[in-house]
Amino acid sequence: MGRIISRRTVQSSTVQYDVIIGEDILDQVSDSDAVTTADFRGIIVSKRVYSLHLAKLNAAFPPSSYFYLVMNDGEDQKNFLNAEKYLCALLENGFSRKSVLIAIGGGVVGDFTGFVASLYMRGIRIIQVPTTLLSMVDSSIGGKTAVNIGAGKNIAGAFHPPSLVAADISFLDTLPDDQWREGLSECIKHALIGEKDLYSLLKNNNLDTLKFSENRGELVSLSAGFKIGIVSRDEKELGERAILNFGHTVGHSIESALKYEISHGTAVGIGMKIIAVLSEVTGLITKDDENTIFEMIDAYGIAPVRELPSPDELLMHMKYDKKNDSGTIRFVLLKGIFLPIYNVSVGSADVRRAIKVYTGRE
Ligand SMILES: NC(=O)c1ccc[n+]([C@@H]2O[C@H](COP(=O)([O-])OP(=O)(O)OC[C@H]3O[C@@H](n4cnc5c(N)ncnc54)[C@H](O)[C@@H]3O)[C@@H](O)[C@H]2O)c1
Ligand SMILES: [Zn+2]
Repeated sequence: MGRIISRRTVQSSTVQYDVIIGEDILDQVSDSDAVTTADFRGIIVSKRVYSLHLAKLNAAFPPSSYFYLVMNDGEDQKNFLNAEKYLCALLENGFSRKSVLIAIGGGVVGDFTGFVASLYMRGIRIIQVPTTLLSMVDSSIGGKTAVNIGAGKNIAGAFHPPSLVAADISFLDTLPDDQWREGLSECIKHALIGEKDLYSLLKNNNLDTLKFSENRGELVSLSAGFKIGIVSRDEKELGERAILNFGHTVGHSIESALKYEISHGTAVGIGMKIIAVLSEVTGLITKDDENTIFEMIDAYGIAPVRELPSPDELLMHMKYDKKNDSGTIRFVLLKGIFLPIYNVSVGSADVRRAIKVYTGRE
């Protein structure tokens, strides 16, 4: 018998869907309307997750009733060629408009399966079963789906909200520490831009104690809840959803300048620190606030000190970021902890200075 920790409803422009967080709750998926009313049920599952949780998955979703497609792990799998391959597999196996897909894995499997579901017969239902911390608190929520193309990450995609998100935190038992940190980087982001209870939870714990059942339940519930609130109010990122880019404009520039030889969580961790410095040097926050932000990121080892590309190189990549209009660079800054402001245009000189101050501090 599973334990439900929270159940929230996301209001999207087209549909309403529940996000259920709990422990051993896969029956919520098999009993859901989307599954019971479907003519065919397909599962796209990460190879790694399938091998680690084989018995549990086969018991919840018997291969006699569910068509399994096992997907290799890795960001490079999120591509068009694979999407076409999977679309063909669905067609060959009789999938119709009344069928459902279930994505079981991290954000790569979730984004990819969402993309395939958005295309198959112009869109079929999808259920997200996220298995990494990052996918539980971030990528499974909000309806964004995508694959990568040669020139950029997540460039080809669609909004295709799921019918259900079921985050079973017992999957986290097997999650390696580096992947915990990937998710914690987004949790820290949610805390700093406004989730006060999450901030306290992070402040009063460490990586080991967060793994205790009660704590990890609260961690996922608070952090996912924060994103749910934002995407329910601003699904298409016309306004407030932009605050979720906190640390990301700088983070993306670091990732692309280093040709993705740095993890997203680390790059965003450094990005949040540089934004803290930028908010301080532009007079928006105090030095104390800046120190508090550094301490929280450091306490979880999110942004280890490392050599960065030059400020000019980072600036060049920021100007290419898809979220910026031509020429100006817009940031999410803080005017206090929990107080983000978005769409702030900052001159190159201030950005350059903040990066230099940051590098000097490290
Ligand atoms: N759609 C969105 O709004 C959105 C938001 C943020 C990120 N993303 C996307 O999410 C992706 C990153 O997601 P991610 O961090 O989950 O990475 P991931 O999917 O690559 O998973 C990371 C690794 O963890 C393994 N793994 C997954 N669950 C596990 C478990 N329970 N135990 C042990 N290992 C497990 C995977 O096999 C993989 O090797 C990126 O492609 C990014 O673009 C999308
Ligand atoms: Zn991110």
